Amino acid sequence: MKENLIIVGAGNVGGFLVLNQELFNNQYNIIGFLDDAVEKINKTFWGIPVLGAVDDLYKYPDVALVIGIADPIVKKKVLQKVGDNHKFPNFISENTWISNDVNFGKGIIIYPGVSINYETEIGDFVIINMNCAVGHNTRIEKCCSLAPGVNLAGFTHAEPFAEIGIGATTIQQVKIGEGSIIGGQSMVIKNTEAYHTYVGVPAKKKGF
Ligand SMILES: CC(C)(COP(=O)(O)OP(=O)(O)OC[C@H]1O[C@@H](n2cnc3c(N)ncnc32)[C@H](O)[C@@H]1OP(=O)(O)O)[C@@H](O)C(=O)NCCC(=O)NCCS
Repeated sequence: MKENLIIVGAGNVGGFLVLNQELFNNQYNIIGFLDDAVEKINKTFWGIPVLGAVDDLYKYPDVALVIGIADPIVKKKVLQKVGDNHKFPNFISENTWISNDVNFGKGIIIYPGVSINYETEIGDFVIINMNCAVGHNTRIEKCCSLAPGVNLAGFTHAEPFAEIGIGATTIQQVKIGEGSIIGGQSMVIKNTEAYHTYVGVPAKKKGF
């Protein structure tokens, strides 16, 4: 029998998971979403009902959970509500190329077309969107989000809650500080400061 699953967040990541269950061996029975947006509650998205707000999770003991939220800061807040005492399976698309010697945490979502090279760590609740390349010896810490087409050179270190925009790139050995936001198509060549936004080629701190 399939295990029951709830998706926290009735947004685009949730839509991807619902509509592409064959990428994950059709392993779960998705019973619903939980979402704090009141206008979504009791509605249906992609054929799946929004059962309530995140605080309603207590009504569904023993279900597996996936946090379908790409924004690391929103995800952090939601995780504070949800707590850590649940089963958080990984959703790693079946065509992901994963080298030997890659370690995964829990609650990770990896879209199709991603490649991950050796001696790499992917932390809890990381999302890696379509067609990203993750170089060898890279460390991506918890709740980071990589938008489509991000290329991380070897030994890149993304600290927790970093958000790396579409098509952005790093050179080898840079550290993306905790909660840094990297704009789309930027090229990061130096370490970035925590909770600042960087854009351009080479990426420069903006006064956001
Ligand atoms: C960096 C980013 C987060 C900033 O968003 P924002 O706070 O709304 O910023 P604004 O659009 O107001 O732009 C502010 C300034 O930064 C510049 N800028 C914004 N994004 C930029 C980028 N990616 N590259 C170069 N410059 C950029 C703007 O031109 C503007 O410059 P100015 O002050 O000289 O006029 C956003 O532009 C971005 O790149 N997001 C990535 C989106 C993404 O990956 N989507 C895929 C989701 S799956």
